[in-house]
Amino acid sequence: MIILKTSEEIEKMARACRIVAETLEDLRSFVRSGVSTKEIERRAEEKINAKGGIPAFKGYRGYPASICTSVNNQVIHGIPSQLRLKEGDIISIDLGVYLDGFYGDAAVTLPVGEISLLAQKLIKVTEDALYIGIDKATSRNRVSDISSAIQSYVESNGFSVVRAFVGHGIGMSLHEEPQIPNFGVSGQGPRLKEGMTLAIEPMVNTGGHEVGILDDGWTAVTLDGGISAHFEHTIVITDGDARILTKLN
Ligand code: MF3
Ligand code: CO
Repeated sequence: MIILKTSEEIEKMARACRIVAETLEDLRSFVRSGVSTKEIERRAEEKINAKGGIPAFKGYRGYPASICTSVNNQVIHGIPSQLRLKEGDIISIDLGVYLDGFYGDAAVTLPVGEISLLAQKLIKVTEDALYIGIDKATSRNRVSDISSAIQSYVESNGFSVVRAFVGHGIGMSLHEEPQIPNFGVSGQGPRLKEGMTLAIEPMVNTGGHEVGILDDGWTAVTLDGGISAHFEHTIVITDGDARILTKLN
């Protein structure tokens, strides 16, 4: 069942999402060569706590950390560690906040210093794919109109979309119905309605779409060793364009 939110509930979600956006914005300048992913997690926890939120991922299905930090060939769910970032890396940071009964969820991929032209293109195509998907997130369109637009755009740029993980409804739970794949043909799946709150999150690989999971049981990595990027926003369907809750304006 897809849970529609009232305007009061949406304003609560907006407050959780604002903490997500402000924390990611802060991390943008904290990320640099020499910093460890654990230090990034600690910084994020401090910011989230100071704003009265609770990191949403810690303990979720046993996940051991407050945020996900996925570097280079890691796709998602990378666990913060002593690993230090170095010039030329890319890092995907996925961050969720719980506040007053509701969740917000967003992700960005950031460059560490100067990165290759391929990595620059990957980051741009993945972020653009997210916004192209959000453009399709209007009432009366269907879920797979989002999926199909993301897949076509990514593949026309020579990259592939990860299929093993999908976007999702979000609200009083981190994951609600519907699932939002980043691939598929248009015109399928549930019709989008005003008051639906969705987390759209394309994961894009430079090589093939296949992923494996490391021995830690969480970290998803590309099977062929290519690099991967991830962008995510929490949005709400309105009578016009979707409202992006995890964006600062
Ligand atoms: N953005 C991811 C998702 O929605 C974050 C979940 S990470 C987990 O699936 F570690 F908490 F599972
Ligand atoms: Co998500």
